[in-house]
Amino acid sequence: TWTPASFVEASVEAIRKKVGPDASAVCGLSGGVDSSVAAILCHRALGDRLVCIFVDNGLLRKGEAEQVVKMFGDHYHLRLVHVQAQKRFLDALSGVTDPEQKRKTIGRVFIEVFEEEAKKIEDCRFLVQGTLYPDVIESVSAKGPSAVIKSHHNVGGLPERMKLGLVEPLRELFKDEVRAVGATMGIPHHLLWRHPFPGPGLAVRCLGPLTEERLNVLREADAIFEEEIREAGLYDKIWQSFCVLLPVRTVGVMGDERTYDEVIALRAVDSKDGMTADWSRIPHEVLARASARIINEVRGVNRVVYDVSSKPPATIEWE
Ligand code: XMP
Repeated sequence: TWTPASFVEASVEAIRKKVGPDASAVCGLSGGVDSSVAAILCHRALGDRLVCIFVDNGLLRKGEAEQVVKMFGDHYHLRLVHVQAQKRFLDALSGVTDPEQKRKTIGRVFIEVFEEEAKKIEDCRFLVQGTLYPDVIESVSAKGPSAVIKSHHNVGGLPERMKLGLVEPLRELFKDEVRAVGATMGIPHHLLWRHPFPGPGLAVRCLGPLTEERLNVLREADAIFEEEIREAGLYDKIWQSFCVLLPVRTVGVMGDERTYDEVIALRAVDSKDGMTADWSRIPHEVLARASARIINEVRGVNRVVYDVSSKPPATIEWE
């Protein structure tokens, strides 16, 4: 019978066999569940012959980079290359407002940065990917928008260009099995059950000019909303909740002064798989606290709205 522990044992054995006694492998860490579990499995099998590359694109949530470094570097002691590529991504994205263009740009820069780092690894002959069974099915069948959505996940033609073999230890697993395997290996609940986060990150939630300043406004607001959702015990019941920074300014009043500041939209949805979704009926008090805190604590925001659209016809993300 399948148990997470028996899977780990068999998988470690299979990874060792595939990679052999001398070669090294590289793995891109995103901070998400799949790449984390794949990396820890491969680390068990290969130790220091696994190098993980974490690219900070400047589009992550508050504290996310620190969490990745702390967990993989300090706790699991795996070889972690932390690439500070914030400026490179922002420069490439400067003036880009079209959503698909944003995704393409981010995907392209990611591949460039990743390849530069991977080339430095001695005897690197394998690429570890956190591909799941549903991804396998989808990549055979999908030609529509979901193929586009997934497109950032794989590192383009990298395996062929660098002549890397693929190691995909999660290829036969569903998400819940991946979480069980992760829990067996000591990955914290917080990471295993974090809401899904798109590869292009905050870039597709920051509408209008993508500047460091606006990304910081969005990041702070988003952290407050998540805190309030957690505080209310709603986090594990909701499929996704996050903030969107809108490309309009509106008039407000503070003391005797007129303000003309940014708008944050709160988005929270209930869903089973992200394909369809209903907006979450969050209690008004929770919305009130999130709104009051965002307006008080995040400079530059004077208005908060709640998105009451379901998918379809709206999508979960705004871009
Ligand atoms: P939509 O907005 O299409 O989102 O209703 C459905 C699910 O997919 C996520 N999403 C993405 N994930 N790269 C990703 O890895 C993307 O470009 C992307 N766009 C949307 C979204 O967060 C939701 O969970």
